[in-house]
Order: sequence, then structure tokens, then C-alpha cells
Amino acid sequence: MIPFIDLQAQRARLGQPLEDAILKVVRSGAYIMGPEIAEFERQLAAFGQAPHALSCGSGTEALVLPLMAWGIGPGDAVFCPAFTFAATAEAMPLVGASPVFVDIEGATYNMDPAALEAAIEAVLAEGQLTPRAIIAVDLFGQPADYPAIAAVAKKHGLKLIADSAQGFGCTLGGQHPIHWADVTTTSFFPAKPLGCYGDGGAVLGKDARLHDLLVSLRVHGQAVASDLEGRTFEHDPKYLNMRVGLNSRMDTIQAAVLLQKLAIFPEEIVARNAAAARYAEGLYDVVRVPPVIDGGVSVWAQYTIETEDRDGLAAHLKAEGIPTAVYYPIPLHRQAPYAGYPAPGGLPVTDLAAGKVISLPMHAYLEPPAQDRIVGAIRNYVKRNR
Ligand SMILES: Cc1ncc(COP(=O)(O)O)c(C=O)c1O
Repeated sequence: MIPFIDLQAQRARLGQPLEDAILKVVRSGAYIMGPEIAEFERQLAAFGQAPHALSCGSGTEALVLPLMAWGIGPGDAVFCPAFTFAATAEAMPLVGASPVFVDIEGATYNMDPAALEAAIEAVLAEGQLTPRAIIAVDLFGQPADYPAIAAVAKKHGLKLIADSAQGFGCTLGGQHPIHWADVTTTSFFPAKPLGCYGDGGAVLGKDARLHDLLVSLRVHGQAVASDLEGRTFEHDPKYLNMRVGLNSRMDTIQAAVLLQKLAIFPEEIVARNAAAARYAEGLYDVVRVPPVIDGGVSVWAQYTIETEDRDGLAAHLKAEGIPTAVYYPIPLHRQAPYAGYPAPGGLPVTDLAAGKVISLPMHAYLEPPAQDRIVGAIRNYVKRNR
């Protein structure tokens, strides 16, 4: 069986230093907010071209934290795609706000800036909700159309979050999404391009005041430096609570793992792009292979093709020992918890994509012989069923 994602190949490459790094934390006893956390945040910010990075408990909480910091809540609208993982939209009800679903571009599966503009106009015309923010998703690893989306955000005075859980490390014209967004969020779920050995996430940002607020919100709204300006508190600021927050700390062990993984991440992005190029070369004439936005570099969280006969192809590949996955069979505006939220104009491109997409094995350690097998099996199936 060819693995869909091969985390063990990566572990073998990282070898003893990875295990030593974990053991060091175990022996140190600094399980929570140990020194690896601050070091990882420093290196993550540098990698992501951001002045600030805050580690947190998950990619979901990375979305919730800035919404909390901006005071987004009941009566507020946050625009996001429906062709994404549930967490993107889940963040809004968690703070009492409403997601408003926006259609995607058929080529990239990312948010369509024209549909975004239309959705904002529709919400304004209806007058029920106040537009506050946009969450663009770097679906399957490639950057959203940030120049166009940021222009819409600016025109309407909205905050822009780049949900880069799948795309962290992607660039557009050499710039990371934070170049356009107010914050970039990511997930370190193990299967993500940059993953840890459990749950974890991060918020990258540009604004020192916002970062300070996120530091507070991450740990129960505890007092931070800006809260203590002009006042004295003789006890641990942990016990001076300024606002309602969360417990969203990332474990020190996960930071130790991520420091090892971040060091090889740039090489892995190159390897993922080489694997994507090999797929494209082998498949472009038999199925629809994924294009990347002009000037964009994807990190290829998924390699997703389209076919009208998805079930047949999946069954054939499974019989050949090749796993596949469907991201996402039911878009969020059609899922029970989200069906009641606005999706102005319906989402025809989203619905069409959901019926055709199928993702192939993809990771940085996918070797040409395994890929040849996958490509050969797909070509055989398509030829046989023509
Ligand atoms: C686009 C997107 N946003 C957010 C998340 C949430 O991340 P986490 O699982 O770390 O909470 C994920 C992945 O799980 C995701 O794919």
C-alpha cells in the first residue's frame, strides 16, 4: 500500500535529533511554555515574513483568537468559502458571529473575489448583519488571490484573515499571505505540510498591540504588559484577568518537534513541488490536473484532480493499493450546522467542485517509482473507460 501521507519517512529523515529534542523537554520538566515555545515563535515569524507569531492550541483556535481580539460577535458577518474544512466557518459561531459563505474560483478552488464583493453587497443590502472580516483559505496549499481579496477588504473596511492551515509556507509573487492579511493562521495537525505530533496552531501578525491581546487571550485573558501600564499588581499577572480568554497553549514538546521540522520545511516544499510537477506531467492529458495561481507557489497539502467518475476511479485505485480521499464531498453551506447561514446567490462553483474532486497521495517523500504506479493506474482506468 502506498501511504497517502508518509510521516514515518519524514521521521526517519529527522532521526535521532528529533527524538533527543523531545526527550530534552521530557527531562526538563518545562512542559508548558518552555523555552522551545518562544524559540519556535521567533523562527516561525522569521520564516513567515511576519513581525509576530503566537503559538496556540490548534488551527481552529488560531482562527477564534483574532476574532475574539477584534471583538467580533453577535450581529457580525465574517465572509469565508464553503469549500473548506469545517474549522474555517466554525470559528464564527464559537464567538457568536455568522459565517457568510462565498463561492470559489473553479480553477483554484479558492475564494472568488468577485463573489466576495457580491456577498458583501448582499449582506449590506439586507441590513441584518454587520460585515466585519474575511477569512480567505489557502485551499490544498495554494495562496488565495490576496491582492484582489485585500482590495475588497480595504474598500469595505474589513479585517482579513489568511487561513493557511493547508497552505502555510505558500507564497504569491514571493510574498507570504501576511503581506496582504492582518493575520495568517495555521494548523500543525500532523498531516499538514508543517505538522507536529499532536494538535497545535499559530497566529502570525503585524500589529504589536494585537499580538499583546492574543498573548492575553491565549491564557485566560491574563494581564499582559499593556494592561499593566500605569498600574501596579504585586502578584503573578496570571491572576489578574482582564478579559475572557481561552486555554490555548501549545505544548512545549510540540514546539521542540516543530523546530526540527521547520529546519527542513523549505526543502520539503521544493520536494512537494517536484512531486506535483511529476503528477502533472503524467496526468495532464487524461484528467484535469490542478493549476496554481499566476506567481503562486503551493505547498501541496493535497494534489487534487477532477473526474466525472470519482467513485469508479477511487475503487480502481484502492484495488491497486493506492489510497485516495475526497476533500470535500459536502460543502459547508450544505452541512446541517451551517445550512442556516447566508450563502448569497448560492454557490454553484462550489457545488460543482464538490462532486468531482479526488485527492491523490502527496508528501515530500513521494518517490518517482510510487508515483509512476499511481499515474499508470489512473491512465489505465481512464483509457479502459473511455
Ligand atoms: C482550512 C483549515 N482551517 C482550519 C483547520 C483547523 O486546524 P486544527 O485541526 O489544527 O484545529 C484545518 C485543519 O484541520 C483546515 O484544513
